[in-house]
This record gives sequence, C-alpha cells and structure tokens, in this order.
Amino acid sequence: MVSISTRVGKRKIEEPVMLASGILDETSGSILRSLESGAGISVTKSIGTEERKGYSTPIVSVIKTGMLNAVGLANPGIDAFLEEFTEVEKKDRIAVSIFGKDSEEFSYLAKRVEEAGFGIVELNLSCPHVQGFGSEVGQDPELVEDIIAEIRGKTNLQIWAKLTPNVTDLIEIARAAEKADAYVLINTLKATGVDIYSRNFLLSNKIGGYSGPGIKPVALRAVYDVFRETGKDIIGVGGISDWSDAIEFFLLGAKAVQVGTGIYYEDYAIFRKINEGISNYLEQEKFSSLDEIIGLMVRK
Ligand SMILES: Cc1cc2nc3c(=O)[nH]c(=O)nc-3n(C[C@H](O)[C@H](O)[C@H](O)COP(=O)(O)O)c2cc1C
Repeated sequence: MVSISTRVGKRKIEEPVMLASGILDETSGSILRSLESGAGISVTKSIGTEERKGYSTPIVSVIKTGMLNAVGLANPGIDAFLEEFTEVEKKDRIAVSIFGKDSEEFSYLAKRVEEAGFGIVELNLSCPHVQGFGSEVGQDPELVEDIIAEIRGKTNLQIWAKLTPNVTDLIEIARAAEKADAYVLINTLKATGVDIYSRNFLLSNKIGGYSGPGIKPVALRAVYDVFRETGKDIIGVGGISDWSDAIEFFLLGAKAVQVGTGIYYEDYAIFRKINEGISNYLEQEKFSSLDEIIGLMVRK
C-alpha cells in the first residue's frame, strides 16, 4: 500500500483531503460527518467575536462554471460556537477558521480557540477592513504580519493563513504571512452575475465570491507562484472536484488540499473518493508515497 499521509507545519495528517471553511453549516454534526467520510481535517465556518446574521437571500447561486456566494460572514459568534463544540471529540482534527477586523480581535479569538482544546487556527483574511475603505484585511501586508505575530506571541496554535486572490501582488501578502505554519490558497474570487430575465443580480449583495471548477487554474497558479517563491507548506483549495484535480495541486507544491464547492456535486462521499483516487494514481505511476510528488514539477 502506498502512503497518502502528509505533514502540514508540525501536524501529521493521515488523509490529505480536508473540508474547506464555510461550505457546510456551523454545527458540529456536519464537521464530524466529514471527518467520518474521509476528510483528514475539517475546517469550520469562519467565526467572529459576535453573532452575525449575514445577508438576505439569495446568498448562493449556481452558475455554469461553479458557484457565486455572498453569505456575509454569517456565524453564531465565538461563545455559541465553543458551546456547540464543548463535548465534541476529535478536536485535534478540526481547524477553527476565525475572522476579525484587526490583530486584537484575531488574537482574542485565537486564545479562546486554544483554551477550548483546539490546535489549529485558520485565519480568514478576507473580511472587510474598516480602516482601508472597501479593502479586505488580507490586502494589507502590515496588518497581516501584525495579526500573525500577535497570535504567535500569545498562543501555541498551528497557524494557517488563508489568503485572498483578490490582490495585485500575492507574493507580497505571502511574504507578510511568512510566520504562519502554512498558507491556504485560495479563498473565492470577487465576482458577480446577472439574471437576464428578472434583470436582478444573482446575489442580494450584488458582489460575491466565485468558487468551483472555473477557479481551479487561478488557484493552481497561486500555489505554484507561492511555492516557488517561499517553499513553505501550502494547502491548495479552489475548484477541486475529483482526485485528478487534487494531484495537479500536489505536483505544483501543495502538501494537502481542501474541497469546498465539490461537496455540492458529490456530497460527503467526495472525501473518500479523492483519497482512493490519489492512492490508485500513486500506485499506477509507481510512486510509493504522496511525499514523492509534492512540488515535483517545481523541483525539476
Ligand atoms: C457558500 C460558501 C461559503 C464560504 N464560506 C467561507 C468562510 O466562512 N470562510 C472562508 O475562509 N472561506 C469560505 N468559503 C471559501 C471556501 O472555503 C473556498 O476557499 C472556496 O470556495 C474555493 O474552493 P472551492 O472551489 O473548492 O469551493 C466559502 C465558500 C462557499 C462556496
């Protein structure tokens, strides 16, 4: 049997396919179900300091090449979230996604997450940045550096920095996030869509995030560029709907992958199918472990 286990930062992970943040509801039930279905790690919906109801419907719209969403960071807030997860086992396989407007909010949330017994925090750096009007936290390199330094100084958590592709220079942001244990690339692409008969926008917020098969080439490019420039651990995400998509990410430097929109096409079965597909591919191509193909096309 070939080995598909991997390592991200200090964490060994048995299966290299993870649940991406925000795709399922915020209950512990769906997180546990994804873990039982073959996800090596599951990432929660992004959690902030307070409850947020999010935008009114429509918040999700299926388009030809994927999906548009503008959920508006709807979440129960850190208190209710931690209460829901108090009794949950397997906390070592759950990464908690957090968002905030500044380094104080981020480090407060991270401390709460650590106190509750979790070991990994994924930073959603794509929430609106109040000071820089209209921009996102993840578009401000100094703020990104500050947030990571604060969390590093105050906790022993593994820190995964999820970067937004909606920037001119992704490498600049990646360098600012270099103290994180790993990068998660990428969050959704800023996009919109129109219903030509009702002449309404597809989303109540008009502008949203584009995910699914259409964004895979953009995500691959992000992984390739950041791996080449930094050589750091990367978790690839964006448009993965089968095992061959996952292999492309590994060849360009990703040590693990996350699946989001793909779950809408295949349901929870997608995790096991991708794990099996990776294992079969390695065997057929005469590799003995996943490690051998990580970054293979960049190392050449
Ligand atoms: C409905 C929906 C909600 C999402 N919510 C979050 C979120 O709360 N936090 C986050 O970091 N990413 C969120 N994402 C982005 C995904 O985690 C992922 O980065 C993106 O969808 C690209 O991967 P995919 O093409 O496999 O879906 C969301 C995506 C979708 C479709």
